[in-house]
Amino acid sequence: MIVKPSTTRAGTFTVALPADKSLTHRSLIFAACAKGNSTIINPSPARDCKTTAAALRQLGVVLELESGKQDPGMPQVACAPARLEIVSHGQEHWRSPSVPLDCGNSGTTARLLLGLLAAQPGLSCTCRGDASLNDRPMGRVVRWLRQAGASIDGESGGERLPLTIRGRQLRPISCKLETASAQVKSALLLAAMNISGDVQIDLPDGTRLHTEEMLRQQGVDCTWHTHAGRQQLNVRGPYTLRPQVWHIAADPSAAAFFIVLGLLSPREVCIVLPGVLADDNRLSFLRVIRAMGGKVQRRERGVGVCELVVQGRAQLLATEVSAAEMPALIDEVPILTVLALFSAGRTVWHGAGELRTKESDRLTALANLCRAAGRGVEVQGDTLAVYGNDAPVAPYVFDAQGDHRLSMAAAICASFATQPCVLENAACVDISFPNFFSHLYAVTQGG
Ligand code: S3P
Repeated sequence: MIVKPSTTRAGTFTVALPADKSLTHRSLIFAACAKGNSTIINPSPARDCKTTAAALRQLGVVLELESGKQDPGMPQVACAPARLEIVSHGQEHWRSPSVPLDCGNSGTTARLLLGLLAAQPGLSCTCRGDASLNDRPMGRVVRWLRQAGASIDGESGGERLPLTIRGRQLRPISCKLETASAQVKSALLLAAMNISGDVQIDLPDGTRLHTEEMLRQQGVDCTWHTHAGRQQLNVRGPYTLRPQVWHIAADPSAAAFFIVLGLLSPREVCIVLPGVLADDNRLSFLRVIRAMGGKVQRRERGVGVCELVVQGRAQLLATEVSAAEMPALIDEVPILTVLALFSAGRTVWHGAGELRTKESDRLTALANLCRAAGRGVEVQGDTLAVYGNDAPVAPYVFDAQGDHRLSMAAAICASFATQPCVLENAACVDISFPNFFSHLYAVTQGG
């Protein structure tokens, strides 16, 4: 894929973002656990979410997608959102799949299903992933599930996929997580739905709160509070989840790419992002952008939804982000680092070690992108520092090696290079944002 420098000088662009990936995974899984018919309105078209849907089909759940209707006047805007109808006989009727469950590239699919499958007596299956997922840490989930009595085996001793799970009745546990991971927390909360007694989870604060909030919406008495930088949760199972209608708003993490595009565009360019999930934790990246001098308006548009508007380039300054802020920003670090490349001074990310465990080693790959773009960068332990200024970057060839967020970050950065850039294997953006390149083209070459 060749990405040309932006030629847009003026105009207002409305970008229809995909629905939130995290919420779609969870609503699919909750619908599959519940007995009865559930509906997901506006599910994410991300490949990762299709992976979750396919895995649930393998477990015997019926899912049917009705595509949304496009507005012919504005081909990027669907006027009727897609609907997904899910029919399940309940988690206890899931059947053991005859072939391994393919979790593809999706850490959320693998980790959340591990929690559910391990706690479902009578079910047995093997979970595997693609090369990237097979290399990501699973021991952080497996360790706690085994403490609760789970039977999970694999050649890696439980550290990596593929893993074979033989579902059992698990015991109550109390877990103190070292890593700030919403996926691990969610796996344990989902296991807790089939455990008689208290499950307590204590983890570093700042991870997304979707699982606990959605469980509460279904009548589960899941309580939590934060104390001394940690979140402490408690749930006393078992619970039978009820079918629901889930409405999914647009993905804030997808919004971040077009916000940065807007912030780096000329003053006369305005980007409007409607229908975004109004979740303070997921919008934490706005705090960093504001600290750098970027102006983004957030207009509330009803319960749980907002519109984000960004109006052209401001004077941008480097910033320093603490380790405590990282859990809420983790998926946005690649695109915020691109913003930092155009912000005067040295931007520092402290406690960025978790980036090494994502779809690729994002810490190393981000440093490579910054170098390829001709900017200074330092990596020391878990700290990443980049040097920015407001000049266009040097043209580059960059291979994100299957990492969707790095590919999109590299494409936004390329829009402000002196010459066209080459992105190898850029098709992986479909993992979270299938229409990314058509929206990018519309904004950068269409004005
Ligand atoms: C996610 C949690 C985060 C995030 C990932 C989605 C989720 O991962 O990076 O993209 O939906 O729970 P970790 O839990 O590994 O931090």
